[in-house]
Amino acid sequence: MPIPVIADVDTGVDDALALLFLAAHPDIDLRAVTCVAGNASLAQVAQNTLDVLAVAGCEAPVACGVDRPLIEPARDAGSYHGANGIGNLALEPSPRQPEPEHAVELLRREIDASPEPVTLLSLAPLTNIALFLRLYPQTAAKLERIVVMGGTASAGNASAVAEFNVWHDPEAAQIVLTSDVPTTLYPLDVFNRVVATDEQITQLKDAATPHARLAAALLDYQLTLADLPADIASGAKLGDAGAAAFLVASEHFGVETWPVGVELSHGYARGQTVVDRRLRSGEAEEHGLMAPTVRSEVALTVDGPAVAASFINTVCGA
Ligand code: RIB
Ligand code: CA
Repeated sequence: MPIPVIADVDTGVDDALALLFLAAHPDIDLRAVTCVAGNASLAQVAQNTLDVLAVAGCEAPVACGVDRPLIEPARDAGSYHGANGIGNLALEPSPRQPEPEHAVELLRREIDASPEPVTLLSLAPLTNIALFLRLYPQTAAKLERIVVMGGTASAGNASAVAEFNVWHDPEAAQIVLTSDVPTTLYPLDVFNRVVATDEQITQLKDAATPHARLAAALLDYQLTLADLPADIASGAKLGDAGAAAFLVASEHFGVETWPVGVELSHGYARGQTVVDRRLRSGEAEEHGLMAPTVRSEVALTVDGPAVAASFINTVCGA
């Protein structure tokens, strides 16, 4: 049976790649997509999302959520994702509009209506999901789990130590990571290591379907970013699409369970996800100081080429 999935996105080049995968994979039933400000403004995210789903031939309902974080103003990633948030690609405008209801209401409606537990895939700042958890805890308790593309157990990207989705709204991330809903973190440690090769991009172009051609164009844009780990010489990062593939290809990942906390102070480390991999507590605890206590599953290693191949085969085969 395909797994029911709702994706929360800030489309975004890599969110678009994830949506193409989610719409194409036979073992995934994409029930809805909710939008939040992040990579781009809420309005731009919603338009990009509708346009990508139209290319994928996916009719899943799309709803708009919040246009800024809980505390601070929105701070987009236009320098990375392009002025329109989707690599400056000019997509055919979708004939569809977002649902009239707020994203939080669409989450409640779809999760309450689902006979099977829904997996919530977060690919964006966590503001919508935090508000949903606070407003509808009984509905949230029906979730299978939340998979969060966010955080890092090593270096950051938005800042030296913080990953963009958590950095954009650290309070929302803290709410989600300390909730009672089982949560798996998909941090930069694996996010950065799922990379498509030039040959795989050519495979997409040869497939010559609308969604394969769009995936190739998005990956060609990713090639221009040159932000690969030092030990990966070339390729196009799949980003959020790796988190989408994690839902159906978790055998390619190494997952551990550790206490995870979010730094909320307004300094260098704001938005840092502290993954506490110590085997024993230390002086911080002995002297009554703070230490992360809520344990989350964290994906820390990945067979990047295997996941990239899963993405290519899925989108080419759709
Ligand atoms: O840090 C990477 C994450 O932030 C990705 O989800 C990207 O799309 C942005 O939302
Ligand atoms: Ca994203």
